[in-house]
Amino acid sequence: MSTGIPFDDSPSQTTPSSSDSPGNPLEMISREHSEHLGLCDKLEEIADSLPNNVDRNTCACAALALRYRVGVHHAVEENALFPLLITRVGNDMAFLRTLLRLQDEHRTDEGHCDEAVELLTSLSKGDQPENAEAAGYLLRGLFECMRRHIAFEEDHILPKAREVLKESDLRFLASHLAKAGIGRKAACFDSTGRSD
Ligand SMILES: [Fe+2]
Ligand SMILES: [Fe+2]
Repeated sequence: MSTGIPFDDSPSQTTPSSSDSPGNPLEMISREHSEHLGLCDKLEEIADSLPNNVDRNTCACAALALRYRVGVHHAVEENALFPLLITRVGNDMAFLRTLLRLQDEHRTDEGHCDEAVELLTSLSKGDQPENAEAAGYLLRGLFECMRRHIAFEEDHILPKAREVLKESDLRFLASHLAKAGIGRKAACFDSTGRSD
């Protein structure tokens, strides 16, 4: 499935043969978390640079990443990772409630992403924000929520997945990652958030 964002042609690693392989889908999700944390750093830079020192290219790249990467990541978690976890730990009600909370956070973040994409696209064209304070507040709210969410998944969800998912689960998850284009390098930001 094309996500609509330009990617380079480097080969993706999508077929795990064991939990230690470099193409392990859980590690690919973790690497994407690192990319999203790099994006958060860029959003913080932009917020700090408002209203007069905004880098237009950084805004354009951040808008692309928010538009095409975040929702896809959420979809893979909700359509593949979380259902697999529910299958393996189905009677742990506290854990199930945690997954529902994470899904709710996805919807909230996606709403903020839509607003941020509109703002960043406008900034990338050289427009001044109507209200710089409100624009900064929007960006800060988004990257702070994303950082918290990612930290929780890294500390609690991925370790649980490494513990309970079977080889067949990992193959299923890898196929979802491949279809979503996760594992291929996105244009604009690398895993450190450095823009091209
Ligand atoms: Fe998530
Ligand atoms: Fe995630």
